[in-house]
Amino acid sequence: MIITSCGNSIILAKRIAKKLNCKFSPLTLSTFPDGDIYLKYNTNLTNKKVVIVCSFQPHPDMALFDIVFAAETAKDLGAKKVILAAPYLGYMRQDKRFHPGECVSSKVMAKLLNNSVDKLITIDPHLHRYKSLKDIFTIPAVKLTANNLIADYVRKHFKNEVVIGPDWESYQWAENIAKQIHVDATVLKKKRFTSRQVKVKMVLPVPIKGKEVIIVDDIISTGHTVAEAAKQARKMGAHSITAIGVHGLFVEEAIGKLNRAGVNRVVTTNCIEHPTNKIDVATLIVDELVKEKR
Ligand code: R5P
Repeated sequence: MIITSCGNSIILAKRIAKKLNCKFSPLTLSTFPDGDIYLKYNTNLTNKKVVIVCSFQPHPDMALFDIVFAAETAKDLGAKKVILAAPYLGYMRQDKRFHPGECVSSKVMAKLLNNSVDKLITIDPHLHRYKSLKDIFTIPAVKLTANNLIADYVRKHFKNEVVIGPDWESYQWAENIAKQIHVDATVLKKKRFTSRQVKVKMVLPVPIKGKEVIIVDDIISTGHTVAEAAKQARKMGAHSITAIGVHGLFVEEAIGKLNRAGVNRVVTTNCIEHPTNKIDVATLIVDELVKEKR
């Protein structure tokens, strides 16, 4: 088995290779003067299982394109199986045509991957209107979750806590984590006006005053969703506020926005590399890949 990576997730790819006792072989990736992609493997792939570890952030368009080129090239060079381990799978939020004429980009992304990779492994994909990855993937697609790792982190670092899911989509994570650590959880009702404007309201009140509030979301992108939830928790007398995101995209000064909203600490998994990474998902992927080594 050979582990490689496109531009994103190189640190994680190396950790996975080390834990699996496999070779990590980086790709040479660059562009020709006109912008065309240049990609080269630097190891023999004949009859090997090739694992491309690559999250779709930053630059999701480039990541998708690199993955397709890398997967097709691996097959062309004689690889017997190409596995994509994309800890963060992009494009999943556009899971329907919200306005006439829009691209349902999740389906297009899936179609490209169905054609070029043999198996997908991902962590906490944004499944909202889709019930499962099977709704769009025809290849084996494995959904892992960082819930247990997040619950362990919370158990070790907090006391007298309460868990908030800032919208219904995030409640699946918040509820599961709260159950594991035996604390209250609640969900906020979110109304999204635009990509950058949301409002939240608490519909299932739980005691917040004096509590260590943990806001859990699958994705923190612009930070608006978590910031609105934090403002609400502050008004209700929270002692401290921690935002935990499985996938920290942090676009457009998101961290500053979170701090201004009263968030004391931001914690993420290393599904996407970022200085807030505190929760390591390497073992989740390793446990799945071990099955491929048998
Ligand atoms: C959406 O349903 C997700 O679960 C997140 O709440 C959302 O993607 C966060 O986006 P933002 O940080 O831009 O508010």
